[in-house]
Amino acid sequence: MALINKAIFPVAGLGTRFLPATKAQPKEMLPVVDKPLIQYAVEEAYAAGIRQMIFVNGRNKRAIPDHFDTAFELETELENANKRELLSLVRSIKPDDMECIYIRQPKALGLGHAVLCAQCVVVNEPFAVLLADDLMVGKPPVLKQMVDQFSEWQASILAVQEVPAEQTKRYGIVAGSPISDRLMDLTHMVEKPAPEDAPSRLGVAGRYILTPGVFREIATQPRGVGGEIQLTDGIAALMRREKVFAYRYEGKRYDCGSKEGFLQANVELALDHPELGATFREYLKALEI
Ligand code: UTP
Repeated sequence: MALINKAIFPVAGLGTRFLPATKAQPKEMLPVVDKPLIQYAVEEAYAAGIRQMIFVNGRNKRAIPDHFDTAFELETELENANKRELLSLVRSIKPDDMECIYIRQPKALGLGHAVLCAQCVVVNEPFAVLLADDLMVGKPPVLKQMVDQFSEWQASILAVQEVPAEQTKRYGIVAGSPISDRLMDLTHMVEKPAPEDAPSRLGVAGRYILTPGVFREIATQPRGVGGEIQLTDGIAALMRREKVFAYRYEGKRYDCGSKEGFLQANVELALDHPELGATFREYLKALEI
């Protein structure tokens, strides 16, 4: 079995920044070019050797299970029409050796609470958390880079990236002592600090590998910013008991929870798309912006 075999995908947020698109579907189903955000994240976890995908669903819960379920009618139609390529594309969404588990978060009480909802499935092993609205492009895929780090350190690891000083207010900012060019042994973490209060410029991105000890910490935290149960608070508490590392990943992140990041992802991935890339580039050039 792989070192990390379980991934939690919290997909129960309200997605208010994307209303009305997210009124009747989770934001993780928004497509970048031709694939929903959640599929990019699941593919990244699969590429890291993970086979159990745990989705923490909220309201509008049907779209994601439907996406990863077998679509008998569609498959039969494609088969009858001899559309082999499309058929294998549809079937490849869920490889046979991948298991999907769905858990309900009854109320959007925060990311920490969403992760805690999956404790009954994860129980006592290290696990990954992927926020699918952070679309990561990396070679090797970002979570794979983190699993490789985990195999060396056997401790919790948070993905971080350097953020512009004026943006520290949007991130959890980490502090600690450097171990190597990409790795930092963390001492503390500050949630959304003003630039002058930020202990570094390294902001946490939506990929985590966590040890199961974090569940106890999340469960005992008082409600944090916005009355929500914050994952950051649980991880900050974990740091007092266990080593927690920050890993500066190699790759690019698109913040698809914001309209700007979502549009950038669509443009850049379309430019890289094997079928669309060339014509789309011509189209953009002709716009003469
Ligand atoms: P966000 O902070 O982006 O919140 O959540 P949101 O509600 O999804 O979006 P906005 O800000 O209203 O537009 C970060 C991640 O945590 C999940 C979200 O689905 C997203 O993947 N989440 C958040 C939950 O699963 N449950 C929660 O209670 C809160």
